[in-house]
Amino acid sequence: MHSDYMAVLISNWSSVQSLPENYVFPPERRPGAEEIQASKDIPIINLEGINGSERSEIIQHIIKASQDFGLFQVINHGVSRELTDQTMRIFQEFFMLPAEFKSKFYSNDLNSSCRLYTSTLNYENETIHYWRDNLTHRCHPLEDHIDHWPESPPGYRIIVGKYSTEVRKFLLTMLELICEGIGIKTGYFEGELSKTQLVSVNHHIPCPDPSLTLGMPEHCDPNLISMLQQADVCGLQALKDGQWIGIEPLANAFVVIPGLQLRVISNGKLASAVHRVVTHLEKSRTTIGTFLTPSNDIMIRPVDGVLTSQEPMYRGYTYNEFFSAFIGNNCEAERALQCFKLSTMH
Ligand code: OGA
Ligand code: NI
Repeated sequence: MHSDYMAVLISNWSSVQSLPENYVFPPERRPGAEEIQASKDIPIINLEGINGSERSEIIQHIIKASQDFGLFQVINHGVSRELTDQTMRIFQEFFMLPAEFKSKFYSNDLNSSCRLYTSTLNYENETIHYWRDNLTHRCHPLEDHIDHWPESPPGYRIIVGKYSTEVRKFLLTMLELICEGIGIKTGYFEGELSKTQLVSVNHHIPCPDPSLTLGMPEHCDPNLISMLQQADVCGLQALKDGQWIGIEPLANAFVVIPGLQLRVISNGKLASAVHRVVTHLEKSRTTIGTFLTPSNDIMIRPVDGVLTSQEPMYRGYTYNEFFSAFIGNNCEAERALQCFKLSTMH
């Protein structure tokens, strides 16, 4: 039953000479032929001195980057190069495994515990597809989920388990620094607000014509916070002042994106970057995303600490409610947020 489904995964295509028609976007949605250089303006946060005298300066840098770009890179993040390299290799090898093995995980069901799919979960109903395969599964608490993970390539569960634990610590540290920076009480994001952890790995094979295709649509992450570990291949772009800018794949850096929930909780103080992925002519590209999201039933609202001189811009809602509005509005962030906006005129 899975055999024709498996034909749709681009990682199962052995050679692609020309671009299939159902991957060609209409002219107004194409990224275009003009090459976008990686920008030197994207903030790079160096966490090396975070426990010393530079702490408050580094925190202010994080807050400014979140306000101005809604995205930044972090170096000296504390996760070892050995572990990030091993994990990248495991995922790259996963996508190269035989179609028959991967077919066990193929699913377009959002609730499936470990799902491998191509383009978007809406593959069946969309007319044009994104040049992307994706593997997504939950990671926290580890013992609740690890039995659903792939067992190949060898070491998958051990290495991805270790990685998940380490990047969770890193993301919780980032959230603590953000609390410190904007006056939210310590530990605010611990527990239910950051409970769900997903790993979401994108894989794109070389594309015969990157000017006509997209690896991922322009979007904002609906999460609390996201991080990306890029392999050494360009593709991620963020929208800044109406221009697309390339996010350089820096060695041993994590890209951090405050999600839409951070935007709401900070009452609009922090931004969440609009970003997309373009494809590469010659190279395969694999990116490991890790997302923290609130539990479904937890209330989300602008937090007291940021409201001293401001009226709340959003009403309280559950993450479940938000996510339905997000999906219902075609994953368009502004339209989804509109459902929860309060009028601030009193
Ligand atoms: C995402 C995302 C970017 C990338 O998964 O939400 O934006 O570079 N990924 O793969
Ligand atoms: Ni994203």
